[in-house]
Amino acid sequence: MEKTKEKSRVLVIGATGRLGHYLTRFSIQSGHPTFALIRNSTFSDPSKSVTLESLSSSGVTLLKGSLDDEASLEEAVSKVDIVISAIPSKHVLDQKLLINVIKRTPSITRFIPAEYGADPDKTQVSDLDHGFYSKKSEIRRLIESSNIPYTYICCGLFMRILLPSLVQPGLQSPPMDKVTVFGDGNVKAVFVNEVDAAAFTIKTIDDPRTLNKTLYLRPCGNVCSMNDLVEMWEGKIEKKLVKAFVTESQLLEKIKETPYPDDMEMVFIYSFFIKGHHTYFEIDESCGGVNGTELYPDVKYMTVSEFLDTLL
Ligand SMILES: NC(=O)c1ccc[n+]([C@@H]2O[C@H](COP(=O)([O-])OP(=O)(O)OC[C@H]3O[C@@H](n4cnc5c(N)ncnc54)[C@H](OP(=O)(O)O)[C@@H]3O)[C@@H](O)[C@H]2O)c1
Repeated sequence: MEKTKEKSRVLVIGATGRLGHYLTRFSIQSGHPTFALIRNSTFSDPSKSVTLESLSSSGVTLLKGSLDDEASLEEAVSKVDIVISAIPSKHVLDQKLLINVIKRTPSITRFIPAEYGADPDKTQVSDLDHGFYSKKSEIRRLIESSNIPYTYICCGLFMRILLPSLVQPGLQSPPMDKVTVFGDGNVKAVFVNEVDAAAFTIKTIDDPRTLNKTLYLRPCGNVCSMNDLVEMWEGKIEKKLVKAFVTESQLLEKIKETPYPDDMEMVFIYSFFIKGHHTYFEIDESCGGVNGTELYPDVKYMTVSEFLDTLL
């Protein structure tokens, strides 16, 4: 009888977070022995007990450790083949010690660093972003110079960010009368539901086609300009909205007079809807890009239209 190939073992860092939780779910569902690195403070936090219980009962092995505790990282990394990080962007540089540990562990077949947004190497916002993208690029260069096998996930904007207000800073729900459009409203951005970003990520981990590649998601129906979004929403509420346009220089002015971190929402609007950082380039295989939606047509994902239906 043919011996079935053992599934690679996966370590998720950030498994108690929103994306990390979905990553463990798809990892387990795909039959990977799955581990989560959990900080001591999280084990002793009563508000996290339900999340830990749910991870444990779904079959995830919980390991005590932290990104600043080298021994715990060595122990955790030695148990697995694949490491996926889903820590928040403001902590991306905290992955440096982990990268050193992975470098010393040649059995690791793939590392996915915390990114899951725009491609940091293709995003130039002239220091407006307080190092948001340059720190991610710094982590990429460290991974590459350490010869660690990697996949970078560039999935666009999570639908829970900006889309619930139809890209209206300060609003929590979509406008019903007037809408602000940034730039000319024709620049396209990419949206993805977080759970779908996790599903695509887990698809890549054993796939040789994504080894040392950047996976871009451009799902059909989810590459939309502000004008597309407004038109879609108008169709759903059966009403025309009055559009007010904000030019690039007006938005830049507003960003400059807004303190951090409140300015970041507008920085992302500038980046995605004025500069077009999700879509201004073709996915170029000769430069290491792969199209996730084409590689994995079996992944069923939420469309922007379906998401807008949830807001009615
Ligand atoms: N494209 C987008 O629109 C978008 C939007 C948001 C996020 N993202 C990306 O998605 C990824 C996950 O974000 P998220 O919103 O799911 O994060 P989240 O819900 O805030 O969860 C963060 C996780 O990281 C863990 N963590 C934080 N600092 C840590 C440390 N020093 N050592 C070990 N674990 C640590 C937390 O553990 P504890 O339980 O111990 O605190 C938690 O499990 C990030 O890479 C982020 O950049 C993308």
